[in-house]
Amino acid sequence: MTETIKIETGLFPLLTYNKAGTGNAIVLLHGFPESRKLWDKVVPSLADYFKVIVPDIPGSGESVFKGDDVSMEQLAESIALVLEHEHIEEVVIAGHSMGGYVALAFAERYKQKVKGLCLIHSNASADDDAKKELRRKSIELIKKGGRDAFIRQMIPNLFSGAFKTQHPELLEANISEGLKLEGRSLIAFYNAMINRPDRLCILESAAFPVQWLAGKEDTIAPPSKMLQQSMLASINFVSVYPGVAHMGMLENPERMSGDILEFAAYCFSNKPKHVDAK
Ligand code: MLT
Repeated sequence: MTETIKIETGLFPLLTYNKAGTGNAIVLLHGFPESRKLWDKVVPSLADYFKVIVPDIPGSGESVFKGDDVSMEQLAESIALVLEHEHIEEVVIAGHSMGGYVALAFAERYKQKVKGLCLIHSNASADDDAKKELRRKSIELIKKGGRDAFIRQMIPNLFSGAFKTQHPELLEANISEGLKLEGRSLIAFYNAMINRPDRLCILESAAFPVQWLAGKEDTIAPPSKMLQQSMLASINFVSVYPGVAHMGMLENPERMSGDILEFAAYCFSNKPKHVDAK
């Protein structure tokens, strides 16, 4: 059974998250421009074994940030507030794309709480200048009233060609979800991404295992970049999904659920992890 919980905090007027299952905790963070709904196909099999916490990142779904700007560090703070509300001390934290950037900011500030970090179609580098420029152009477009055009143009690029042809209804559903985000949130998220620092050092110093879930056809988080970074932490679980682009939780939810389950079981097991051997 999934429960939806809403909390009001000083920092965030409203934080909303789903909770399912019992036991050790896994947090699933969605990307841009999505909401906690993104994980609906993955949660049930994880919730058979774990407590699964699925927040709306503030500015998405039913979570709200104050003012016009928000940083990756503040978004990570919203996750800490959810965990505090649930009295959860240790987590496997999994983030999809922008959710991965939030997970890395969380791991930087709360490394003692992290039992494992799962980066899904994501990476730990800062944006390069070309990427920052592209984001600034999109911000200008949204400011000029082009929010809908921006969403309709960007969402199809998240999926593989074959998936788009076979599941036009899912593509449309994702466009509808994206259109629910206010222009103010889209702009704040892009600025947060532009301003986020390189966090490769979090991987290099990680005292926890790191999982990499990459789509072979992903042009946004290319597998080559993810695989390069999978050399940095001491313990890495790597899966590359053929026929999948940037949305493995929709393009191949069975495999993604299985991979996260296996990783979380390892992270919470009492097997020696040899992470101090560096
Ligand atoms: C996402 O899926 O969260 C975004 O594509 C991330 C990004 O643009 O870097």
